[in-house]
Amino acid sequence: MRHLLSTGDLTRDEAVLLLDTAEEMRSVAERPIKKLPTLRGRTVVNLFFEDSTRTRISFEAAAKRLSADVINFAAKGSSVSKGESLKDTALTLQAMGADAVVIRHGASGAPARLAAAGWIDSAILNAGDGSHEHPTQALLDAFTMRRHLAPGQHGLDGRRVAIVGDVLHSRVARSNALLLSTLGAEVTLVAPPTLMPYGVDSWPVETSYDLDPVLPKADAVMMLRVQRERMNAAYFPSAREYSRRYGLDGKRMAKLPEHAIVMHPGPMNRGMEITADVADSTRSVIVEQVTNGVAVRMAALYLLLSGARDAASENTSDTTEGQA
Ligand code: NCD
Repeated sequence: MRHLLSTGDLTRDEAVLLLDTAEEMRSVAERPIKKLPTLRGRTVVNLFFEDSTRTRISFEAAAKRLSADVINFAAKGSSVSKGESLKDTALTLQAMGADAVVIRHGASGAPARLAAAGWIDSAILNAGDGSHEHPTQALLDAFTMRRHLAPGQHGLDGRRVAIVGDVLHSRVARSNALLLSTLGAEVTLVAPPTLMPYGVDSWPVETSYDLDPVLPKADAVMMLRVQRERMNAAYFPSAREYSRRYGLDGKRMAKLPEHAIVMHPGPMNRGMEITADVADSTRSVIVEQVTNGVAVRMAALYLLLSGARDAASENTSDTTEGQA
């Protein structure tokens, strides 16, 4: 693996290796000193052209726990607002010696362009591009599901996952559908017809316009945020109508099997796609997803930066563990 652009690029073995490595990284998070010397002297740039809370700080925490130097770059307040192109930004990062670039961009395909154009030598990690993909989110979701639904197993064979809501605008849904099917899970996308993506027939999933019949068979239900900022038209009659048909409330949650978990990538519209009591219930793993995100991003950075290329470089015998 040289870049992490799409979960569709991952073989089952690569996906399982990422999840297994994340499992080791998670145990680091449980130590009093949450730091490994692995990426000492490496530079990770967080290049965020779109708003983000958890993904950006999660990548930052992940890189810091591996002792990398982290540079945070937000497009707002940078030369991008003066009209600088992605190419010139990339050339600047290359000149500064970035080993990895974590990029979030409003345009689908921007990370792939950065990886293919040859402007920069760094490993590129897609942290969300338009409505296309968000591979580390899918990996942290799969990691969370494996812990709860298939502990000790490699994949998620035969587990049933319902992904519900604004699938059309969701990079999380696409990355999850691809990864979960690679891991052997059965995915059902549930959305109103207006929010089901075109070409969904070619995805490795089932689809349904109706939530209630899907719930009793689901091992995990993933609620998606209604992405109003990406909507330029009316996709449903009213918020109330949407919640009534596609929202997860206590009554609907009761239709899930006993062991099933409730997920959401965040940020949540409480009261819209999920009620507050469901979000805060004992079945909700939403806060744990955030914790797991750091471990998964540590695994991704570790495998991309210290994989093949590290064999020749210096080892880390003089540990910096303990340094802040
Ligand atoms: C998601 C995203 O940005 O794609 N959030 C996240 O990264 N945790 C989902 C969303 O914005 O609804």
